[in-house]
Amino acid sequence: MSELIAYIAPQNVLPALSDCLLILNSNSTHLHVQQAEDESAIQRHYVLQMPVQRLVFPPVNCHWLIAALSNDPHQSALPKLGSLVVTAVGLCTNHLDLARALDIALAASLSDLVAALLQRHLHDGATLADAIIRTNAQLKGDVSYVCHQKGQTQFMFASCMGRPLFVGLESGLRQICCSNLRLIRQRANQVYAMATGDIVRFGLGVPSLILPDGSEQALHMPAVNKSQNIPHYMLEEIEAQPETLAILVQKYSAGYSLPLPLRGKLAGIRRLTLLACGSSYHAALVASYWFETLAGIPVQVGLSSEYVDRDIHADPYDLIVAISQSGETADTIAALQHVQNLSSARTVALTNSPGSTLTTLVDHTLLTHSGAEQSVSATKSLTAQLLMLYVLAFSLGEARGKLSKDELAAVQQEMLTLPTAVAETLQLGKDIRRWAGMLHRKKNLFVIGRNTHYPVAMEGAFKLREVAYQHAAAFPAGELKHGPITLVNDELPVIVCLPWNQQAQKMLDDLKSVRANRGEIFILSNGNIASVDGTSVIRMPNGLTNLSPIIYTVALQMLAYYCAVLSGNDIDAPRNLAKTKTVELA
Ligand code: BG6
Repeated sequence: MSELIAYIAPQNVLPALSDCLLILNSNSTHLHVQQAEDESAIQRHYVLQMPVQRLVFPPVNCHWLIAALSNDPHQSALPKLGSLVVTAVGLCTNHLDLARALDIALAASLSDLVAALLQRHLHDGATLADAIIRTNAQLKGDVSYVCHQKGQTQFMFASCMGRPLFVGLESGLRQICCSNLRLIRQRANQVYAMATGDIVRFGLGVPSLILPDGSEQALHMPAVNKSQNIPHYMLEEIEAQPETLAILVQKYSAGYSLPLPLRGKLAGIRRLTLLACGSSYHAALVASYWFETLAGIPVQVGLSSEYVDRDIHADPYDLIVAISQSGETADTIAALQHVQNLSSARTVALTNSPGSTLTTLVDHTLLTHSGAEQSVSATKSLTAQLLMLYVLAFSLGEARGKLSKDELAAVQQEMLTLPTAVAETLQLGKDIRRWAGMLHRKKNLFVIGRNTHYPVAMEGAFKLREVAYQHAAAFPAGELKHGPITLVNDELPVIVCLPWNQQAQKMLDDLKSVRANRGEIFILSNGNIASVDGTSVIRMPNGLTNLSPIIYTVALQMLAYYCAVLSGNDIDAPRNLAKTKTVELA
């Protein structure tokens, strides 16, 4: 995934860029920089050494720059320098139509396209702020960009309509805009997280928000809490979830919805297939319940590596959703191609990686916008997948007439409370660490749940195997009595996802057999259940119904993380595993 970094300051900003590269420690090797050099603007291309080293830049006076860090070796992403300097990231769904209308090459890069649109409005007499407002009205899809107009040495603009951008104040009067949450947290003292639709002017004065009528409003920039030293990417990515989810919540609750070409097709869909591997597969399983309940549609979930060997019966009324954080997982690509070879079903890629292989194979792309994920274990990308699948489920429910207006409003309203509920779940870290102290030496564990919380249990067990190297098995609680109960004894702890809902009483009944066999019980629940001898309870936040699986997932992520820490494991790169690396061309 490419990263975007822009700097503006009264002093030379190249050393600050070098610091950013060290912090990002990315596996991307190409750095394209558009920068001020004395009084002119120039482009430079650097090929980075791995592991990332401090870069030594030429001794020039560079007081602004816009840099793109990616795996794209070609300098196609940046426009020829005219009066505008633009770097854009994301996916524009009407790229070809706009390129034709502008009479530029159809293969023009996204940055070229945005620059050409802006130039046209500037040519018609618009200010740069107005040109951005007009350009954004023409762009469809998820496009974020930073631009700078030559001659305007005091400021630049950031526009966020896709990939999240953050604007921050650093020491030394430097102002930064970047796409990476970890970077901005480490570099800046005060940060504004741009919401979808935001246009921000930043530079040598107070940063401001450009309102739809072109007027400006000073930005409120909360201080960054620097007291926490976060030791692993996995923990950092777990803790980023209130922010990554808030970005999606804002995007899908403020009048924005799914891309029009996909929305237009939803009413005609009769059956859904979700394809994925690993954690993405668990997201698909959770979502399958939402699709049945909220959209009233038959749904099947395929594990990609198995799906490729099955006989497929799909037709144009089927919607196939391939889910992959990286968009590069070979099994999921193969499963998608398998169904494409045998049918003309509509296809969607749900991914965190714009420009990934999966996105090039499908009719529609949905992006999860959770930022680059460094740890092999999927955490923030997984909860973002869940939320996007929820949005797809209620959008299908709306299109198919399954949800009344009031029901739709209620399911959308629940999204608004999610980031706070996730933040409250993170506050349980101390209790979960205590559990990890009791559990990390156990060779075998069960994780159980019912309904949507059964796949959550599967994900929890998966994480315990993946990072804590413990043999954890997940079961639907009602299945314990059909076999697994033979293994329960005082050496086998049972972790229980027990949201206080229609299944709660049945869950309590299931637990009686565990206690009868001296199994130690660890319950996550928002119910009023007391800890007693042999049963330890952590009280989960209240208020979620459909979206409750997300907070239980977060709690189990923390449990696996702390068990792994106590066992001294390599948290971010567990043995024998590798994260699929992504190549973004946009
Ligand atoms: C595996 C990882 O290799 O790939 C899992 O260990 C991940 O953590 C799985 O969930 C699927 O990856 P993706 O990118 O297709 O979601």
